[in-house]
Amino acid sequence: MILLGVNIDHCATLRQARYREAGGGTPEPDPVALADAAERAGADGITVHLREDRRHIQDRDVWRLRERPSTRLNLEMACTPAMIALALKIMPQAVCVVPENRREVTTEGGLDVVGARDAVKACIDALGAAGIEASLFIGPDEAQIELSAKLGAPVVELHTGAYANAYATDRRPAEFQRLKLGAVRAHGLGLKVNAGHGINYVNIAEVRTLPHLNELNIGHSILSRALFTGIEEAVREMKARMNP
Ligand code: PXP
Repeated sequence: MILLGVNIDHCATLRQARYREAGGGTPEPDPVALADAAERAGADGITVHLREDRRHIQDRDVWRLRERPSTRLNLEMACTPAMIALALKIMPQAVCVVPENRREVTTEGGLDVVGARDAVKACIDALGAAGIEASLFIGPDEAQIELSAKLGAPVVELHTGAYANAYATDRRPAEFQRLKLGAVRAHGLGLKVNAGHGINYVNIAEVRTLPHLNELNIGHSILSRALFTGIEEAVREMKARMNP
């Protein structure tokens, strides 16, 4: 069975659109209440990206999620000493290391493990020593996958964004093939294979056929559908399409 991590960042985006300046209380919509409902509907994990600029998820959201015994928390974060120190305090079950660029609307490219080798290695080592499973969010590129394994990462999350963007074009078969080869290579090197970004209720029919998939992290499409159906139905429908 492929596991589903529900990324709830956009719930916080909606809250911050109104309540950025409001202190105290828990203004709506509450991402923790959303996580609760998503878990009731079968989400296997909850993913949040605590960005350097705190534009959506706030530290308090992460701490509240961490206090929930039912939640398997996957914290997405940049590879910086400040975020590593914070992760070691929060102690989520998993961390996914992502690149961060203040101007982007959402995470755009994969992490450049080759270019930031020493920083990434320090991050994997610090998290691993604390018993936190570290995952690297990378494009399905041979060099990135090989170095991820060499540096001792237990997990990679393959970036499905280029595939999702090419879905309605003639580049789709090539992008899917890249993901397939990447998944096979990562698995062959002993890495656990997750995937995420741009996965929706249509492309999931093909994404789910990627070999060796452990978990998909999905946010935008599930939260968008939830506006019409409610989060529980949106999560149930995605899980049914992931594991028909
Ligand atoms: N995985 C990672 C590492 C991400 O950064 C994101 C986007 O925040 C996702 C998965 C989810 O992408 P989407 O919102 O397009 O489903």
